[in-house]
Amino acid sequence: MLHGKKILLGISGSIAAYKSITLLRLLIRSGAEVKVVMTPAARDFVTPLTLSTLSKNPVGIEMFDENAWANHVMLGRWADLMLIAPLSCNTLAKMAGGLCDNLLLAVYLSATCPVWVAPAMDDDMWNHPTTKRNLYLLQEYGNKIIPAEKGELASGLFGMGRMSEPEEILALINKYFDQASHVPKKVSDSLWGKKVLVSAGPTFEPIDPVRFIGNHSSGKMGIALASELASRGANVNLVMGPGVEIPELGGIDVTKVKTAEEMYQACLGLFSGSDIAIMAAAVADYTPVETAVEKIKKENGEMTIQLKKTRDILKELGKQKRDGQYLVGFALETNNEKQHALGKLKSKNADMIVLNSLNDAGAGFGYDTNKVTIFDKEGGEWAFPQKSKAEVASDIVDLIIEKNGI
Ligand code: CTP
Repeated sequence: MLHGKKILLGISGSIAAYKSITLLRLLIRSGAEVKVVMTPAARDFVTPLTLSTLSKNPVGIEMFDENAWANHVMLGRWADLMLIAPLSCNTLAKMAGGLCDNLLLAVYLSATCPVWVAPAMDDDMWNHPTTKRNLYLLQEYGNKIIPAEKGELASGLFGMGRMSEPEEILALINKYFDQASHVPKKVSDSLWGKKVLVSAGPTFEPIDPVRFIGNHSSGKMGIALASELASRGANVNLVMGPGVEIPELGGIDVTKVKTAEEMYQACLGLFSGSDIAIMAAAVADYTPVETAVEKIKKENGEMTIQLKKTRDILKELGKQKRDGQYLVGFALETNNEKQHALGKLKSKNADMIVLNSLNDAGAGFGYDTNKVTIFDKEGGEWAFPQKSKAEVASDIVDLIIEKNGI
């Protein structure tokens, strides 16, 4: 439910504006307070009278009305979420270019809350390279794109560009606020617009179609980190190893992988677009030289599996790291913990390393708790008591924010 949530609904000139009326009603019924701003072109599709009646608030259209000036800054600060649905091609292009020739654009530019957009256009417009570039830019600025869908279009054509259905948009909004409310402390938007890559879980290295070499990683620490980051507004890419049940996580894109090599490829592909990367996965260090195509039958005597080294993902990211990117690794140790952790910090060119020792009760694989010591490349050392993995994730994220001056 959205009781107490303030939603600013932006409507631009598209035939899909008729769906905004349903969306507005659904939001109000869910308990949200809604104010509407619309572009002058949107008036050709829905009337301000309908929208103001349903929202019980005046509808903003013009920057200057008679002798009054519409305070776009305060509208942008009032909302918990600004949702532009439908987003027309024209408004998209203006937002991507930073134009400000109507009230909706002025509010967008001064909004301090998260901004979500639901594009709506014809198939050919959707596929135009400018549209793709503009959507890419909007995402880069930290806005959330609710993808358009395939279906029947106003032109009579069938293809991509249908605005997502109001019920689906409402479900996304509910999920977003619901997830935020589960975070024990105040949700901060300090990572809004930041892209964070997280690896989690084990990898499975196949011996034959039925057997593999794996480890006991539960993926819980990585999932806790991804949730914490998303709750602070980050766009999270979570690369997850196998055998881990992935919970419903709003605001997190999950890429599922099985082997160390697949995890390497996925992480390398996502790293260049990331501001922060946290490698929490327990990646296999060795993989069979060959994977048997058929199930290996048992024979008399011993058997030997020849292994080769996998590629070290964290180390490769450390090599490719650019200025402004922040790289965090984990170290799971059983002896000489600090020495090994500092060795990994240096050899992998990480900015921070989170050490957990299997000697500490309640730390490591499978537990819901963890006990970590964090080291950074400036020589900082922070030892934490045993806490839940969610609390540990929060401590790690706090420290990353502090060290990056975000
Ligand atoms: N790591 C990685 N790719 C690998 C192995 C490890 O990205 N092929 C990352 C882990 O995700 C973790 C860090 O490197 O962030 C340290 O992992 P750990 O298993 O503790 O150390 P290793 O480098 O594998 O060294 P060793 O097993 O000898 O302790």
